[in-house]
Amino acid sequence: MSATYQEHGDIGVITLNNPPVNGLGHATRAGIVDGVGRALDNPAIKAIVITGAGKGFSGGADIREFNSPKALQEPSLHTVIRVIEEADKPVVAAIHGVAMGGGLELALGCHYRVATAGAQIALPEVKLGILPGAGGTQRLPRVLGVETALNMIVTGNTVLSEKLSATKLFDQMIAGDLIEGALAFAKKIADTRPLPKVRDIRLNYPNADGYLQFARNTVRAVAGKFPAPLKCVDAVAAAISKKFDDGIRYERDLFLELVQTTESKALRHAFFGERAASKVPDVPSDTPLRDIQSAGVIGAGTMGAGIAMNFANAGIPVKMLEMKQEALDKGLATIRKNYENTMKKGKLTQEQLDKRIGLITGTMAYADLAQADIVVEAVFEDMAVKEKVFTQLDAVMKPGAILASNTSTLDVDQIAAFTKRPQDVIGTHFFSPANVMKLLEIVRGEKTAKDVLATTLALAKKIRKTGVVSGVCDGFIGNRMVEQYIRQAGFLLEEGCLPEQVDKAAEKFGFAMGPFRMSDLAGNDIGWYIRKRRYIEKPEVTYSKVADLLCEKGRFGQKTSAGWYDYKAGDRKAYASDEVNQMIIAHSASLGMTRRKISEQEIVERLVYALVNEGALILEEGIAMRASDIDMVYLTGYGFPLFRGGPMFYADTVGLPNVLMSIRKYAKGSHPEAWKPAPLLEILAAEGKAFNA
Ligand code: 3HC
Ligand code: NAI
Repeated sequence: MSATYQEHGDIGVITLNNPPVNGLGHATRAGIVDGVGRALDNPAIKAIVITGAGKGFSGGADIREFNSPKALQEPSLHTVIRVIEEADKPVVAAIHGVAMGGGLELALGCHYRVATAGAQIALPEVKLGILPGAGGTQRLPRVLGVETALNMIVTGNTVLSEKLSATKLFDQMIAGDLIEGALAFAKKIADTRPLPKVRDIRLNYPNADGYLQFARNTVRAVAGKFPAPLKCVDAVAAAISKKFDDGIRYERDLFLELVQTTESKALRHAFFGERAASKVPDVPSDTPLRDIQSAGVIGAGTMGAGIAMNFANAGIPVKMLEMKQEALDKGLATIRKNYENTMKKGKLTQEQLDKRIGLITGTMAYADLAQADIVVEAVFEDMAVKEKVFTQLDAVMKPGAILASNTSTLDVDQIAAFTKRPQDVIGTHFFSPANVMKLLEIVRGEKTAKDVLATTLALAKKIRKTGVVSGVCDGFIGNRMVEQYIRQAGFLLEEGCLPEQVDKAAEKFGFAMGPFRMSDLAGNDIGWYIRKRRYIEKPEVTYSKVADLLCEKGRFGQKTSAGWYDYKAGDRKAYASDEVNQMIIAHSASLGMTRRKISEQEIVERLVYALVNEGALILEEGIAMRASDIDMVYLTGYGFPLFRGGPMFYADTVGLPNVLMSIRKYAKGSHPEAWKPAPLLEILAAEGKAFNA
C-alpha cells in the first residue's frame, strides 16, 4: 500500500508513501480511502491527519498513469476527495515540501490545511497541457480569490506557502515539527462542527465578465498552439457562474478533452524526456561524482564567453584563457555587456551583476588553470589547434580534472588521444548563445570514465542546461540531423522554392525559425567551412551548391547584413533579396532543372522527415540512447515546436508507416540518394511500433 495508516492517540494519521513525489497513483488513492475508512470506523479516533513521507506532501496525480486504465480506476481522485469531504470527522492536510496539482486538490478537499514555510504550492497542470481535473479550478478561487487563483492556474507557477499564509488556503502555519504541529491542531479542532468545506465558500466576484474578457485576451496572446490555458480561464469562469457540482463536472469534461490532445501528450513526453536524458543505463545513479568548485575556459570568443557566464551564473568561479590580451579583453567586455543588457531588462540586480563579473577572471598562462576542477576548451574548430590545447592541458592540469571540448564536429576520441588521460576527456557541446540556449550535448568518448560522464550530467543540471548524452560521430545528434534538414532545404531551392517560401512553411509548422533565417543567424560561412571538409571526405554525398554560391558572394548572414535575405542596420528583420532569388533561379537553370510549384506539405515533410530518418539511424547506431533524447535535443537546441514533442515523437504521432510511405515517395524525386530509409524505421513501421515506446 503506498499510503499507510497509523493511530497517534485519538488522531488517525495517513501518510502518503509513493516515492519519489507521492504521486497519487491508484495504490496511493486506495490507501487514502482505506485509511479514512479505518479512522471513521474506530470510535476512539476523533480526527484524521494526512501527510506525505519524504520530501513533500504530494506532487499530484501520478503522470505515469495517464492514458492507462489505472488513471480512471476507482477510487479516482474525485472519489478520494469526496470520501474526505463527506467524512464526519475532521480531516487535516499537513503540508511540507510540495503540494502540487492533484496533491493541492487533495488538500483543498480536506476540512483544514496546515503547512510549514517553504512548501511549493502550485497547480502546474497547464505545463502538462491539461488543467486541474480534481476540483482545483473550482476550489482554489474560493480560498485565494479569482485573480490570484486564475493567475496560478493559467501559469502553473509555484508560490511559497508563507506567501499564502494569510489566505483561506491555510488554517495555520507550523513552525516546528510538522507532524507534532498537525496533531496539536487536529486535537484543537476535533470537536468543531459543522466541518468547514471549501466547496461551501461563496465565490463573489462582481464585474466578472469584464475581468474574464481581459484574462482571455491576455492568455490568448501567449498560449500559442496550446489549448489548455484558455480552457483554464473557462473552468475558473465556471467556478463563478455555475453551482459547485456543475462547475466540477464542467472541469472534468475539459480535463478529459485536454488529456487526449497531442499537445498535452507532447508536453508530458518532454517532461519525462528531460528527466530520462540524465539517466545512462550503464552508469548507476549512485556513481560518486567529482567535485566541481572551479572551472577554466580556453578561448574567450563567441562560445568561450558564453560558457564562462554559465559557470558564474551558477556561482562557480571561472578563469578564461586566451593567447592575446586583446582577445581576452574583448571576451571580458562581451560578458560585461551581456550582463548589463540583462540588468537593463530588469532580470539582474547590480549586486548580482557585480558578483557574477567578480567570479570571472582572465589569464594567458596555463599554470593559472592547473587547479580547476573542469576546463572547457572553446578555441577554433581546427584539430591542430585542439591538439595544441589538449597537450598543454594534459601537461598542467591537476589529476582528476575534467578536460572538456566544445567542438561541434571534431572527433572527441581523437582529441582525448592527445592526452595521457583519455578517461578524463569529454565533449560538452554548448549551443549559441551559450549563456541562453538550454541544450548541452554531452559527448561520451570511447574512453570517457563513468564518473566523468555522471559529473558532467550533474553539472548540466547545476548550470540549468538540459544535458543529453551523444556518442561520437560527425555532428553528434543535433548537427548530424540538421545537416539532412539543410540539405533538403537546398534541394527545395533548386527544384522551385525561394528561401521565404521554405521558411514560411517551416515556421507555420511551428519552428521558431525556418532553415534559411536560421542559417543567416548562425552564419552561412560556418556551414560552408564544414561542407568544404565534409565533401572532400565524402565526395559521394550530394548537396545543393547554391549555398556555396551565396558564400562566394560574401553573404554570410546577419553579421554581413546579407545572407539568404537582406538586413538593414539595427534591424534583425529579413527582407527578401532579389539578388539571391535571381541567383537561385539561375542556378536551377544551370542544372537544367524546370522549376515547379512545391506545396507547403511537401516542404515540411521533406524537412522534418529528413530529421526523422537521420534520427532513426542515430538511434540504431546507439549514438543516442533513446528517441526522447533526440527529441530533447531538438526541443531545447533547434527551436522544434514543443507542441509537436520533437521530431521522433512527431513521427510517432503521424504514424511510422505514413512517414515511411512519404520517404519512399520522395526517393522517387530528384535526389533518391538522400532518402534511403533507415532500417530501424522500416522495422518499427512493419511491426506497428513507435520510436518512443
Ligand atoms: N507523477 C509521477 N512522477 C513524477 C511526478 C508526478 N506527478 N512528478 C515528478 N515525478 C517524478 C519525475 O519523473 C522524477 O522521476 P525519476 O527520478 O524517475 O526521473 C522524480 O519524480 C523527481 O522529479 P524531479 O527530477 O522533477 O524532482 P524535483 O525535486 O526537481 O521536483 C517536483 C519535484 C517539483 C514535484 C517536480 O517533479 C514537478 O514539477 N513535477 C510535476 C508536478 C505536476 O505537474 N503535477 C501535476 C500532475 S497532473 C495532476 O495532478 C492532475 C490532477 O489535476 C488531476
Ligand atoms: P571564436 O572564433 O569566436 O572564438 C575562438 C577563440 O579561441 C578566439 O577568441 C581565439 O583567440 C581563441 N583561441 C584560438 N586558439 C587558441 C589557443 N590556442 N589558446 C587559447 N585561445 C585560443 O569561435 P567560437 O565560435 O567561439 O567557437 C569555438 C568552438 O566552439 C569551436 O570548436 C566551435 O566549433 C565550437 N562551437 C561553436 C558554435 C557557434 O555557434 N559559434 C556552437 C557550438 C560549438
